[in-house]
Amino acid sequence: MKWTILLPLLPLVLSAPAPAPQNNDPASTSAAQNATATATATGSSSTSTGSSPSNTTSNNPSVTIYPDTSNGTPIKITGVNVAEYGQDLYLGVPYAQPPVGDLRFSPPQSYIYNFSVTAQKQPPACLQSPNGLAGTQSEDCLYLNVYAPQGSNATSAYLPVMVWIYGGSFTSGSIDLYNATALQAYASKTGKPFIYVALNYRLGTFGWPSGSGFAENGAANLGLKDIRKGLEWVQENIWAFGGNPDQVTVFGESAGAIATSLLYLDENINTFKSAIMESGAQSTTPIGPTGSTWEDAYQYLLQVTNCSSTPASSANATAATPSSAANTTATTSSTNATSTGYATSSDSTSKLTGFECLKALPADALLKGQLTVKSNLLFAGFIYGPSIDGDLIPDSPHTLLSQGRFAKKPFISGNNKDEGTSFVPSFVNSTQTGMQLLAIFSPVDPDNSTVAQLYSLYSPEPSAGSPFDTGNQTFGFSPAHKQIAAILGDAQFQAPRRYFLEQANSHGLDQTWSYQFEQYTPGQPAARGVYHASEIPYVYGLSVPGANLTSIGFGNNYTVGDQQLSYQMVDYWLNFAYYSNPNGQSNSNATVWPTYSNDKNILRLKSDNITVFTDNYRQAQMDFFNGNPTEFNYKRSIAGVQRG
Ligand SMILES: *[C@@H]1O[C@H](CO)[C@@H](O)[C@H](O)[C@H]1NC(C)=O
Ligand SMILES: *[C@@H]1O[C@H](CO)[C@@H](O)[C@H](O)[C@H]1NC(C)=O
Ligand SMILES: *[C@@H]1O[C@H](CO)[C@@H](O)[C@H](O)[C@H]1NC(C)=O
Ligand SMILES: *[C@@H]1O[C@H](CO)[C@@H](O)[C@H](O)[C@H]1NC(C)=O
Ligand SMILES: *[C@@H]1O[C@H](CO)[C@@H](O)[C@H](O)[C@H]1NC(C)=O
Ligand SMILES: *[C@@H]1O[C@H](CO)[C@@H](O)[C@H](O)[C@H]1NC(C)=O
Ligand SMILES: *[C@@H]1O[C@H](CO)[C@@H](O)[C@H](O)[C@H]1NC(C)=O
Ligand SMILES: *[C@@H]1O[C@H](CO)[C@@H](O)[C@H](O)[C@H]1NC(C)=O
Ligand SMILES: *[C@@H]1O[C@H](CO)[C@@H](O)[C@H](O)[C@H]1NC(C)=O
Ligand SMILES: *[C@@H]1O[C@H](CO)[C@@H](O)[C@H](O)[C@H]1NC(C)=O
Ligand SMILES: *[C@@H]1O[C@H](CO)[C@@H](O)[C@H](O)[C@H]1NC(C)=O
Ligand SMILES: *[C@@H]1O[C@H](CO)[C@@H](O)[C@H](O)[C@H]1NC(C)=O
Repeated sequence: MKWTILLPLLPLVLSAPAPAPQNNDPASTSAAQNATATATATGSSSTSTGSSPSNTTSNNPSVTIYPDTSNGTPIKITGVNVAEYGQDLYLGVPYAQPPVGDLRFSPPQSYIYNFSVTAQKQPPACLQSPNGLAGTQSEDCLYLNVYAPQGSNATSAYLPVMVWIYGGSFTSGSIDLYNATALQAYASKTGKPFIYVALNYRLGTFGWPSGSGFAENGAANLGLKDIRKGLEWVQENIWAFGGNPDQVTVFGESAGAIATSLLYLDENINTFKSAIMESGAQSTTPIGPTGSTWEDAYQYLLQVTNCSSTPASSANATAATPSSAANTTATTSSTNATSTGYATSSDSTSKLTGFECLKALPADALLKGQLTVKSNLLFAGFIYGPSIDGDLIPDSPHTLLSQGRFAKKPFISGNNKDEGTSFVPSFVNSTQTGMQLLAIFSPVDPDNSTVAQLYSLYSPEPSAGSPFDTGNQTFGFSPAHKQIAAILGDAQFQAPRRYFLEQANSHGLDQTWSYQFEQYTPGQPAARGVYHASEIPYVYGLSVPGANLTSIGFGNNYTVGDQQLSYQMVDYWLNFAYYSNPNGQSNSNATVWPTYSNDKNILRLKSDNITVFTDNYRQAQMDFFNGNPTEFNYKRSIAGVQRG
């Protein structure tokens, strides 16, 4: 059985025609334009290269930083100019020491620079499955990219900064997959130039491990620490690129939005002013204590890497067949949890603790172990991800939010209409298989009465399922497919989003906005509805006529309407970066996007229909999720984890 649940969280290679900046546009009176006008570069051979912009122009841009870690020594960073679009790209700037060797499983350390950095090609992605879209990978991956309007540097006007945090289920994704050229060209053209930053963070076991060994060694939420470190780097250095450190907006999608929402749990965080979260909130993935939530998966990882002190043959049932899901998934599991031959030589590593053994493994062996664990159906859910570590995440996010313990910074949090569809494999054809899927997503199953209540709230009637508003159409699947898609979409995305907004507003944070993206992607099956991640090309200004993004899971045949919607969304996003208000300051024709407030305003984003409505759909269902924080995986409390 081919598992597709993790595909949706979306790596993608974004590249489509960018609007050429119009240097004589009177609306564009920015530093960027000034610099563009004075630039002399004419080389446009950049179009001929593959994944790396050409550096054959003679005027490679450079900026100079003076990081603390170089004791005031100037460090020159040389990038590459893309004259065609009036941009300077600094690709692969290190922001932390390579997390390799003794630094594996350690928080990111400040990078020690040595005079200069050549930042002219895409850095490697963090280690992940080789079957995805990421290109070169390495454990040495803590780099960031900066896209600046051409000529932007420390002597320019300081521009707002937008820092992108990619999605990918905490197990995939990389910055080279996101091409911000079109976005930046549009921004400059419309008089809102900005500095774009995207940073890599560690993935999978390397970045988001759970289990007793990691808890004992304080090695949780490393990817989140990477993101925080990258934001600190931006604070210290972005001025040199012409960026304003007081004007940083973080934006991210899926896992990137979840991570961004978790930054809010540090009440004193001061590395950004506002954030945009596209399809992700604090409890979107299961979040329980580091040491216990996925202990069974940790024990299994130790076994398959020969790092277990217990030979596989005598491993007990807890380790070998996780109790929570074993019975419900036995019939569909295609892998052997117990009969593999991995742990036959445990003697050779018995002097090390499991954690030390994992830390000493060759990186590819650890990755292989991770992929083996993930390929077991029992662990196909979100076994790598944020956890309650008593430090960055001191308690259940549900509890912290209810107590008002979060940063009071403006944010936009939105969802797509059919978040759940991409997560339901085709084998789900009955209530029973739907429940199996829920069990796979849960570290501990909800109890039977909870499940029964849940099913009573989600009608099996196809017209009630997701993709929503498609009547009794079932697209060749069973009705149970639409039913579980509705449940998953609400449980993981809609309910946590609504909860964050409600808690923000009841604790005095009134600068919040919400959207529902409702635009169908042309060229994608109707069964997907308005699926998870489908808004990304719109946010990057790429859903334009002529673009063909099908190879990365998006559309082709985008229409003028798609393009207009895209540019309207980009306007809202840029306004938010500029003014912490998506409406900006001008009297444009755009629909005014009201704050969420007690009216629960939410903006429908659909071409020809950008309208405000009330965020009270499926209210009883959302209340059920948000009112039962100890029952559902995504908000499982410490007490809840004990059960089962
Ligand atoms: C980024 O997109 C632009 C505009 O579509 C394209 O010219 C350029 O080659 C792309 N860059 C990369 C690295 O793919
Ligand atoms: C652009 O250049 C003009 C003339 O040199 C200057 O007056 C103006 O302030 C500059 N604009 C920005 C945004 O730097
Ligand atoms: C272009 O970049 C490559 C790789 O970074 C480097 O070897 C080469 O010298 C550069 N060429 C120029 C003209 O800067
Ligand atoms: C900024 O760029 C301009 C034009 O290339 C250059 O003259 C100036 O020295 C640069 N400033 C800094 C601080 O690097
Ligand atoms: C199985 O192993 C786990 C973790 O090592 C331990 O907590 C549990 O008590 C063991 N169960 C049995 C039945 O031995
Ligand atoms: C799993 O099934 C076995 C026998 O089929 C039963 O004894 C055990 O209680 C079941 N475990 C769970 C967690 O339901
Ligand atoms: C299960 O283990 C047996 C014996 O080691 C092996 O032959 C078989 O290929 C394994 N099945 C899977 C799906 O890995
Ligand atoms: C669901 O699919 C399984 C495997 O393809 C099949 O055996 C079963 O009969 C199906 N159940 C329903 C209710 O269609
Ligand atoms: C929960 O439901 C399952 C499947 O319907 C059933 O086998 C099990 O006995 C139930 N457990 C309890 C405690 O009722
Ligand atoms: C869907 O089918 C049911 C039962 O066949 C019917 O009562 C209902 O009106 C249908 N709904 C729509 C929207 O067609
Ligand atoms: C879009 O690209 C895919 C391959 O990436 C190709 O198979 C398909 O034919 C293209 N579609 C159009 C309409 O160009
Ligand atoms: C656009 O879609 C139409 C019909 O769906 C198709 O015939 C046409 O080939 C598509 N064109 C492109 C460029 O994708």
